[in-house]
Amino acid sequence: MIIQPIIKGQVAKSCHPIGCGKAVADQIDYVRQARQIEAGPKKVLVLGASSGFGLASRISLAFGGANADTIGVAFERGPSDRGVGTAGWYNLIQFKQEAEKQGLVAKNFVGDAFSPDMRRSVADYIKTEFGGSVDLVVYSLATGVRPDPKTGELIRSSIKTVGEPMTGYTVNLEKDCLEESVLEAASEQEIADTVKVMGGEDWEEWIDFLSGEGVLANGCQTLAYSYIGSDITYQIYHEGTLGHAKTHLQATADKLDAKLKAVGGQAHVAVCKALITKASVFIPAFSPYILALFKVMKDMGLHEGCIEQMQRLYVDCIYQADGEVRVDEHRLVRVDDWELREDVQQKVRAILDKMTPDNFKTLGDYEGYKTDFMKLNGFGLDHVDYAQDVDLEILRKG
Ligand code: NAI
Repeated sequence: MIIQPIIKGQVAKSCHPIGCGKAVADQIDYVRQARQIEAGPKKVLVLGASSGFGLASRISLAFGGANADTIGVAFERGPSDRGVGTAGWYNLIQFKQEAEKQGLVAKNFVGDAFSPDMRRSVADYIKTEFGGSVDLVVYSLATGVRPDPKTGELIRSSIKTVGEPMTGYTVNLEKDCLEESVLEAASEQEIADTVKVMGGEDWEEWIDFLSGEGVLANGCQTLAYSYIGSDITYQIYHEGTLGHAKTHLQATADKLDAKLKAVGGQAHVAVCKALITKASVFIPAFSPYILALFKVMKDMGLHEGCIEQMQRLYVDCIYQADGEVRVDEHRLVRVDDWELREDVQQKVRAILDKMTPDNFKTLGDYEGYKTDFMKLNGFGLDHVDYAQDVDLEILRKG
């Protein structure tokens, strides 16, 4: 069949398997030519490995100098009678093939990272087939729902403000327009639920479990990703429900850091730049800021995507020759430093002051925004023949 992009609102309902493979291959090419990670980890577990920052981390750690064997856990869907499946499914396959070509171990676990069964399977695999331990655990899950670890009841996160509601514009990728959207103020319960889903509790449970199983190597590090942003978006993110979850994540890093001292290890949160991922396009009223930010950072030669961010993170901040992780006064690793430069923020502010639904495509980088979104789903990549027939039967057989 010929696979066409199908977008509904902010969601891609189709993906192109060959294009997804090409997007992964392009990221691998980038890190191969970038400054290399020295003294990196050799055995890595990535939770949330199929897209966005988690996929980029895995690519960076395998192909960007460290030559790490990796285990990737992700929640994705393969081809079926219902359709072609999700982009992350094909990203995982492509990663594995490329890693094996380089003589690296690349094991994929597709399923729910919140489930005790998944933890058990991963720990058993580490013990029996992965050399017995890991020296880095990357926690990069992004989800709106998590089963309560005690009751199994589903808990849902909400993207809302805390305090006053607000109104802003959100990109509609299906209709290529800016639409007004309202962020309601969250209730106490909604704040607590969002912390439960996107905070540090599950990260801590993973590390406690792996530690109890004795599969964390001496000197093992763990890392999770956060966003803070500037005061332009504080009401939407940093001071909203998501920010509360991230504050919890940061506090969890400190707790885990203390626990990991027992194996000479460390835990950190890396604060990253705002980027287009499957998860981030859902944040209401956030898109005008990204449109302006991309425009400014590209004009200034400062723009990075997930792969550039992750390679810089591991080369410049995590795996230093002196063994020290580069952190700020709050023990946070900052690769959002270029986004937060005063000159960048001033220019972003100036654009946002003038941005309207009529001019956002010229004032902001809508073309870049849409292109990034399409590429996440395997569309719009160079040297991919989109007129070519894709045989789902063959894909289904794996
Ligand atoms: P993403 O949507 O691209 O990736 C999320 C990953 O989590 C995917 O691999 C998905 O399969 C996996 N996942 C979700 N639910 C799962 C489950 N139940 N079991 C197993 N795997 C599951 O998201 P993105 O944007 O890469 O987010 C990763 C982290 O980076 C999040 O903590 C996010 O807050 C953070 N971050 C994102 C920024 C952005 O602009 N996108 C900026 C700064 C931080």
